[in-house]
Amino acid sequence: MTHDYAASYERNFGFFKDYSREAVFLDHVFKTFGTDVERVIDIACGPGSHIVELARMGYRAAAADIDPAMLARTQGAAAEHGMTIDTHVADMRNFRLSGRFDAALNMFYSFQNVLFAPQQQIGFFQGVAALLRPGGLFVIELLPEENNLRLYPPGESFVTHRAVEEDGSTLTVTSTSRIVDETRKDIVFLYETVLPDGSFEHEELISPIRRVYLPQFEALCAAAGLVQVAAFGACDSDVPFTDDSAKLVAVLEKA
Ligand SMILES: C[S@@+](CC[C@H](N)C(=O)[O-])C[C@H]1O[C@@H](n2cnc3c(N)ncnc32)[C@H](O)[C@@H]1O
Repeated sequence: MTHDYAASYERNFGFFKDYSREAVFLDHVFKTFGTDVERVIDIACGPGSHIVELARMGYRAAAADIDPAMLARTQGAAAEHGMTIDTHVADMRNFRLSGRFDAALNMFYSFQNVLFAPQQQIGFFQGVAALLRPGGLFVIELLPEENNLRLYPPGESFVTHRAVEEDGSTLTVTSTSRIVDETRKDIVFLYETVLPDGSFEHEELISPIRRVYLPQFEALCAAAGLVQVAAFGACDSDVPFTDDSAKLVAVLEKA
């Protein structure tokens, strides 16, 4: 797998998400559960796929990521629409940002990709809460371990995507989870491409995931003074969170 994570991000992960639709969902969440949401920050924004869509809808957008290359891509995507987005280099493991926002986002399991130590998790939740005004919303997307273990048992291939690329190659991505220890598992992505000339490429990408159980998540919310006001099973307002949901998209409100 290429080492330029930012440049290859959309190709490697973009097909897991429909960012335009998810932005419509986020807009709905802000209007339904928030009041006068204007200032929104996306933490671990990646190439800015959510926050640029939200800026296009009229939100005052800011974005944070540890990787300046991701922030540059976010700014570039905003510039394509004649907009600018405030960007901040920030490390979720030692989260210190200033500002006052009506809503914050942490999407696509970034929380579980990055924060492995309980103290870092608490520090992050408290840091996000400190950025929000009272009544502000925090939307976080995560993989609850209870659901994940039941729906996708470790060691079994659980998702396969196939896509025809612009050059006519066929890309097949298969992901498998592997338990490492009590606190961590790895999701192993296998990228297999059949090129137009018939040759074959095979790459592997490992994404470490902190195993987070729902009671742990609830304790984190409580420690940061965040109250769950809604729980969805997808970035879709018609899909409530249930025992059979593959993910949790939680809407938290600062008390
Ligand atoms: C799975 S991507 C999610 C990107 C985006 N939110 C999305 O939905 O596509 C994880 C992002 O976290 C960023 N990241 C990794 N470690 C980080 C850290 N310690 N602090 C802040 N961001 C980090 C990466 O640069 C990457 O952009």
